[in-house]
Amino acid sequence: MTLLRAKDLTKRFVSRGPLGAKAAFTAVDRVSFDVRLGETLAVVGESGSGKSTTARMIAKLLEPSEGTLEFEGEDVTRAKGAALARFRGNVQVVFQDPFSSLNPRHTVERILMAPLVYQGIAPHGSRRAHAKELMERVGLDPDHSLRYPAQFSGGQAQRIGIARALAVNPKLVICDEAVSALDVSVQAQVIELLRRLQHESGFSYVFIAHDLAVVRQIAQRVAVMSKGRIVELGTTAQVFGDPRDEYTRTLLAAIPRIDPEWERRRRERA
Ligand SMILES: Nc1ncnc2c1ncn2[C@@H]1O[C@H](COP(=O)(O)OP(=O)(O)OP(=O)(O)O)[C@@H](O)[C@H]1O
Ligand SMILES: [Mg+2]
Repeated sequence: MTLLRAKDLTKRFVSRGPLGAKAAFTAVDRVSFDVRLGETLAVVGESGSGKSTTARMIAKLLEPSEGTLEFEGEDVTRAKGAALARFRGNVQVVFQDPFSSLNPRHTVERILMAPLVYQGIAPHGSRRAHAKELMERVGLDPDHSLRYPAQFSGGQAQRIGIARALAVNPKLVICDEAVSALDVSVQAQVIELLRRLQHESGFSYVFIAHDLAVVRQIAQRVAVMSKGRIVELGTTAQVFGDPRDEYTRTLLAAIPRIDPEWERRRRERA
């Protein structure tokens, strides 16, 4: 079942030159894809290829210049008011840097209660308990609910970001380089957490990552972006094992070859 459908999403940024001349730059160019219920769709591509801009458009944090966005069959491209609030309850984002996306002056408890208040979820008296439950779900000690983000390590802070995303019980979680800044060992733990949470709750991920080894572990399908366009979209096995696009091949050639099966198939093609 299709959860989210992006159709020809385009984003142009207009910049002004030194003489006031306007120049339009197309950061995302007619990008179309579906996100299915319960799946993990990875988005990969070089820096500046438009991954975050696409993520921000499908999260409705950024208005597309053109194209449409559907969620559960409903056109939400211009959703405002109650329709937008409903969308926010269904689609959440986890960003790369937890410290800059968590308010440093708010306790974890307050950070986790805010979305509940906004969505009118748990009744007032039970929000505190709900915040503690969320902390437990992401492997944090609920006794630390009155601490501030700076009192946590990077990995723990990212768990807070994940807990905040899950507070409203979303159907889609967009992870924009959510594990990219973490140390390798911490990264593996957070990936395991993301997997477990999906297994428990059945939501979908759009998982943006530089690291193709991570993508192979977590995604069922992969979209490859280059220069604002999707140049290839297929199952993880197809994209990694039998890439159709020249750019995808270049991208794959850059990852360490640890998988003998993949390496064998690559050599067969060569
Ligand atoms: N607000 C903005 N105004 C002008 N240009 C922008 C804006 N946001 C992004 N861009 C440009 O759009 C292009 C795509 O940026 P985007 O952040 O989507 O790339 P990305 O694939 O996420 O890159 P990275 O892997 O480095 O995160 C880049 O050239 C970027 O400089
Ligand atoms: Mg980005």
